[in-house]
Amino acid sequence: MDFEIITASPAEIETECLIIGVGADAEFTPTADAIDTASSGYIRALIDAGDFSGKNGESQLLRSLPGVAAKRVILLGLGKAGERSLPKQQTLITSTTGVITKLGVSSAVFALDCTSSDDDDIYRDTRHITMWSSAALYSYDATKSKKADPIKLEHIHILTQEEQVEVAEGALLDGVAIANGVSSARELGNLPGNICTPLYLAEHAQNLASEFESISVEVLDENQMTELGMGALMAVGKGSAVPPRLLVLKYNGADESEKPHALVGKGITFDTGGISLKPGAEMDEMKFDMCGAASVLGTIEAIAEMALPINLVVLVAAAENMPSDRATKPGDVVTTLSGQTVEILNTDAEGRLVLCDALTYVERFEPQSVIDVATLTGACIIALGNQATGLMSNNQELADKILDAGQYAGDRAWQLPLWDEYQQQLDSNFADIANIGGRPAGTITAACFLSRFAKKFAWAHLDIAGVAWNSGKAKGATGRCVPLLCQYLLDIAEEKES
Ligand code: BES
Ligand code: MN
Ligand code: ZN
Repeated sequence: MDFEIITASPAEIETECLIIGVGADAEFTPTADAIDTASSGYIRALIDAGDFSGKNGESQLLRSLPGVAAKRVILLGLGKAGERSLPKQQTLITSTTGVITKLGVSSAVFALDCTSSDDDDIYRDTRHITMWSSAALYSYDATKSKKADPIKLEHIHILTQEEQVEVAEGALLDGVAIANGVSSARELGNLPGNICTPLYLAEHAQNLASEFESISVEVLDENQMTELGMGALMAVGKGSAVPPRLLVLKYNGADESEKPHALVGKGITFDTGGISLKPGAEMDEMKFDMCGAASVLGTIEAIAEMALPINLVVLVAAAENMPSDRATKPGDVVTTLSGQTVEILNTDAEGRLVLCDALTYVERFEPQSVIDVATLTGACIIALGNQATGLMSNNQELADKILDAGQYAGDRAWQLPLWDEYQQQLDSNFADIANIGGRPAGTITAACFLSRFAKKFAWAHLDIAGVAWNSGKAKGATGRCVPLLCQYLLDIAEEKES
């Protein structure tokens, strides 16, 4: 798909499909006004006749409007000015992109006019339109014998004012990069557990390193991890015929001497629960238990594509959690890389076990900040549902940056407390710490466990169990929280420059 910023007078744009917006109460955007005038009041007549109200989500396809060069015009209802929101805008762009791909047109122009001429607003609107329309083009067919028909749509153009071209072009490049990161994350998430193994993730990381000169990768195997003393990560991988891996990716975009920011992803390529076996219903969805890994890999890809002037380290703790005669048993005690011992009371609480060793390993990079991303607890779905990522942190300044980034990117997180009082739920009679803290506040006690391994840096934990994939008919990975993470790093890059 080719995305491009264009400037033109709306009625003269030769395209197969021009997309314009009208607010409720006949609130015309400048482009809608121009099209209405060129077509001698066609749109106003439509509204007067009660055929279009402009309420949010309404859409109407108009063909061969008199005086308008575009072959088709899609009229989109933007709703009342005071009631617009990012999630509504996202739904609008996503569904409109679906409509134009179904129409089978080869080109389309989004002319949704930013509500202001402020550079920041232009950037944000253009980036979101690019990002959401590009992301809406993703479809999965990797393991289907019949491939989806290639879509006919080749050009998506975004109409901009002359003075705003430069800002809009930057926004478009960022939007495409983030959308590519989201699509890569979705693809990795959707691939089944028999294909997407720890070894497959390692290969994916190596492919990123060959594609981008700014990315390098090192893969630690089971012998190296045993040698290092990663007893917790190894305990999770032990039951499987496929060995675990620790992927270490480095993106170099700033001076070598500059300390990196770090992302750590949970890469359980299938979570059976291990000896603490999960119930059978919907167990297939545990192939998505590597979506944290997918999102940090999608993020480094997007960051490299945007060539951000920062340094970034991405760790992926990859393992398959299986029951077998070699598997870890409830009650087993292991020694982590940090030296702390853990009583594994439930082998299904495996995410924190692979992450804790990765968190200790990341210390060696002296990171400015560390964010781990994991489909960590079912309890997070109970707490926040499928809307918000759960955020817990040992540093409020970092937490605030993440909350802001999620808000900006339309990929929101919500903070939960990480008070000391919760820590006692992890007391063990046989080790320094237990790997489960009982039913109350399951999301928080999981983060408490991780916090014991994150004492040496500013750290935040993102529990994406509720947002990483959709269940039911639309089953599939969402690519969250690539947009949030990219925005967090874009903000850091911008902060550096100013
Ligand atoms: N991967 C799961 C968490 C999960 C469950 C994500 C359902 C999405 C949907 C994780 O490894 C797990 O099994 N967590 C346990 C922890 C418990 C044993 C303390 C859980 O949430 O039940
Ligand atoms: Mn589990
Ligand atoms: Zn898991």
